[in-house]
Amino acid sequence: MIHQYDVIVIGGGIAGLYTALTTAQNNCRVAVISKVHVTRSHSVAAQGGIAASIGNEEEDHWEWHMYDTIKGSDYLADQDAVEALTKEAPNAIYTLEHLGVPFSRNQQGKIEQRRFGGHTKNYGQAPIKRACYVSDRTGRAIMDTLYDQCLQYDVTFYNEVFIQNLLFSFNHCCGAAGYDVATTTPHVFHSRVVVIATGGGGRIYKTTSNGFASTGDGFALALDALLPLEDMEFVQFHPTGIYGLGILVSEAARAEGGVLRNGLGERFMERYAPVLKDLAPRDIVSRAILKEISDGKGIEGKDFVHLDLRGIDKEQLNRKLPEISSFIRTYLGIDPSDSPIPVAPTCHYMMGGIPTDLQGHVLTDIVGSVLPGLYAVGECACVSVHGANRLGCNSLIDLVVFGRFAGMNIIREIKSKVLQPLPLQAESIVEAKINRLLESSGSECVPVLRESMQRVMTEQCSVFRSGQTLENALGEIRQLEKRCLNVGLTNKSCIFNYELQEMLELTNMLKVAEVIVFSALKRTESRGAHFRSDFPERNDEEWLKHTFVSESPMGLKESFKPVAISKFAPEMRRY
Ligand code: FUM
Repeated sequence: MIHQYDVIVIGGGIAGLYTALTTAQNNCRVAVISKVHVTRSHSVAAQGGIAASIGNEEEDHWEWHMYDTIKGSDYLADQDAVEALTKEAPNAIYTLEHLGVPFSRNQQGKIEQRRFGGHTKNYGQAPIKRACYVSDRTGRAIMDTLYDQCLQYDVTFYNEVFIQNLLFSFNHCCGAAGYDVATTTPHVFHSRVVVIATGGGGRIYKTTSNGFASTGDGFALALDALLPLEDMEFVQFHPTGIYGLGILVSEAARAEGGVLRNGLGERFMERYAPVLKDLAPRDIVSRAILKEISDGKGIEGKDFVHLDLRGIDKEQLNRKLPEISSFIRTYLGIDPSDSPIPVAPTCHYMMGGIPTDLQGHVLTDIVGSVLPGLYAVGECACVSVHGANRLGCNSLIDLVVFGRFAGMNIIREIKSKVLQPLPLQAESIVEAKINRLLESSGSECVPVLRESMQRVMTEQCSVFRSGQTLENALGEIRQLEKRCLNVGLTNKSCIFNYELQEMLELTNMLKVAEVIVFSALKRTESRGAHFRSDFPERNDEEWLKHTFVSESPMGLKESFKPVAISKFAPEMRRY
């Protein structure tokens, strides 16, 4: 089945919907293609808020937000991109408000704001209230609003269609091919513009806050097209996942007065970050928790600590954190106003991704060459505003600001873009891939390989890594990739064949895992979320640069791009 549009967006989270809406509002024919029903995209899980210096609670300035973001990134973020983000952020919030997002309100009826990790006033002096929010369902509220608006502007949705390949002709991206999960029918989307908006890949790890769909599919699409991925070694672990489950307990819980305690009942973050304490950036808090645990100060000597919300007024807890209070009652059977919550770091976000410029064009190399017709937005993209560590609430604002910028740029450029012819056999490429898997009869099975990958990545390439663990991980991941060639699917059905889907996802995750480990091995320093126990210091002399890794006939290859520095010279991070 062949479909024709001006713009196709692969992935239906907040960034993708914003690009779709912006282009549809300007008379483009737009389709959003998602492997899940769009309203289940992982953006709905964003809890705590969206950062912007609108200053409703106290004085704030975009320059303070810019400084915090750059310092939080351990000076790896590109400062031109951070300036664009933080300057535009207030306008983005008002635009969302006008679209209908029901932000929580303060006593004056203005959008309410709360503190969040690493956000400060006056260049690091004290915490500031910068996160706008909708109780603890901020992502859900923005998603529903954008979805509603997209329907009004006649965006077409292809739900449960899993894209497998980007299509190219004459060096232009001219579409994508995939299959319908319900029937396994191939679908080809022929378009003037393709936008990748597939989110992250937290499912590569054993414990993650990410939904089941976050399997790094967009990263893999780029790698298959021989495009580079940037800064993939930087994987964020959120400090407070529900122990054993990984489900997020928003940083908003600490913003509203929750504190972390070790097995001795101590507020240990005071020792690691005397000014910001529990609201230090996530890389610092996650390492602190694991340090307490390795020092034998986990709860009852075990591998978790407590998040204590008992100091928060009950009425406030129910009003500001209803969702997480209910998760905790449901999953742990405890009431957070009576009992502390067992928590441990959980894989949350990938700072790296498909390199883009500020307009969302996908870049093919370190000098900034653009691939005509192809854009990327959201977590799968790396415009490089988060560098080595993202601050909480800067993800949602990134999705909204750069999702819209890409849309506006597409509108400007689309008139000059002709529909390139489809490559021959676009449909049969996907068909052949699926048939080969449905006919497979090897001895390996998907869940076993997936669990092995998650174990390797968790044990050897998570919050702490070293040359030794990374070498081991690279060997093991490559071994798993080989074993994947010997998979035998037991389910041969063409109707909702989830074994087939999981196999395709596993293949994608293994490719991405290999790039994460490979990039981490190359970077012989510690910066942000990348902590090498064999190179524990940051090394600006050699490593103030971005890692680009791509596939080549000889295997993975790396190159490096200098960081764009404008306003803030790198200094040591103290909180
Ligand atoms: O803790 C949180 O609510 C997460 C926010 C974020 O990742 O931006």
